[in-house]
Amino acid sequence: MAIRLATAGESHGPALVAILTGIPAGLLLDRDAIDADLARRQEGYGRSPRQQIERDRVEVLAGLRHGRTLGTPLALVVPNLDHRNWTWGMSPWPPEGEPSGKGTRAVTLPRPGHADLSGVLKYGLSDVRNALERASARHTAAHVAAGAVAKALLRQIEVEVRGETLDPEGLRVRIDAARAARDTVGGTIEVRARRVPPGLGSYATREDRLDGRLAAALMAIQAVKGVEVGDGFALASLFGSEAHDEIGTDRRRASNRAGGIEGGISNGEEIVVRAAMKPLPTLMKPLASLDLATGEPAQALVERSDVAAVEALAVVAEAAVAWELALAAHEKFGGDSVEDFVAAWHAYLARIDWEVR
Ligand SMILES: Cc1cc2nc3c(=O)[nH]c(=O)nc-3n(C[C@H](O)[C@H](O)[C@H](O)COP(=O)(O)O)c2cc1C
Repeated sequence: MAIRLATAGESHGPALVAILTGIPAGLLLDRDAIDADLARRQEGYGRSPRQQIERDRVEVLAGLRHGRTLGTPLALVVPNLDHRNWTWGMSPWPPEGEPSGKGTRAVTLPRPGHADLSGVLKYGLSDVRNALERASARHTAAHVAAGAVAKALLRQIEVEVRGETLDPEGLRVRIDAARAARDTVGGTIEVRARRVPPGLGSYATREDRLDGRLAAALMAIQAVKGVEVGDGFALASLFGSEAHDEIGTDRRRASNRAGGIEGGISNGEEIVVRAAMKPLPTLMKPLASLDLATGEPAQALVERSDVAAVEALAVVAEAAVAWELALAAHEKFGGDSVEDFVAAWHAYLARIDWEVR
């Protein structure tokens, strides 16, 4: 059975939900490890006070018994603690009683760079909140929880995935400057996956290509506007003799400019991908917009917001890469149980005479 993921949840609604199907039976999950990834997503220099309200913790409603997956749909829930301040404004059913708390008044001031205006036009909305609640990156918490499950599966075949911010020191200086100017910044992150065996993904169809799948997964994260695999954009200005990774008699490479993928297939080297994040759209010094209620010029919505979320992006991107690699690994090795999955991996490594290192 193919592994699939569906998520649901609004930023200030009751909870975020992830349903994972196709995860093999018998996978031991560590609640603390999932919560640790959720906590890492909330940390980082430049985040908003929202992160002090939330203490993300995973709850499991189905698919797990005594810590091991059952091979049935795995239902994960991350409650939004902030929802207690929005019980009227974000009530799923028509709210009872007088309006109280947050979210009681319609938002009509779309922010340039956010989903506000395009969402309102597309869905025929009059309250921008109905667009921004789901467009918000808050629901990346559900993806991080799913990514933690993917990492547990990958660990069975010794694959490790790690995301980090490039130039964290320089970023802090830029974040301080942006905060002082009531502005925002973006930045660049990198995800590396170690000990990925050769042979994940395929050139057979466009959809199978591992580089395409990783790029799509990263590009689908809010505020990511550029992705590269290996040396990516820098390769464009090199000669072929400088750009490619020569092959040794042991089939390993002395360099890794390809970022571990050739022909849409992992080649056994470390997988290296990068993503560029634009500056966040919610500015404390707002840009020009219009008031959708009156049609008059206005300043964009000012709402509690991060100055930067690049360190959080590194964690979200790590989860996205782990998810795609787990899918590709499960496609290659299959298995309804973790034992079958691992046995197929061992048999494959023996066939190609490949030592994991
Ligand atoms: C982890 C993370 C946190 C984010 N936090 C904020 C935020 O606090 N304020 C904001 O305006 N945008 C934030 N964003 C970016 C917006 O969600 C994003 O720009 C918006 O949904 C529009 O999508 P687009 O930038 O992909 O076009 C965040 C993105 C990520 C990945």
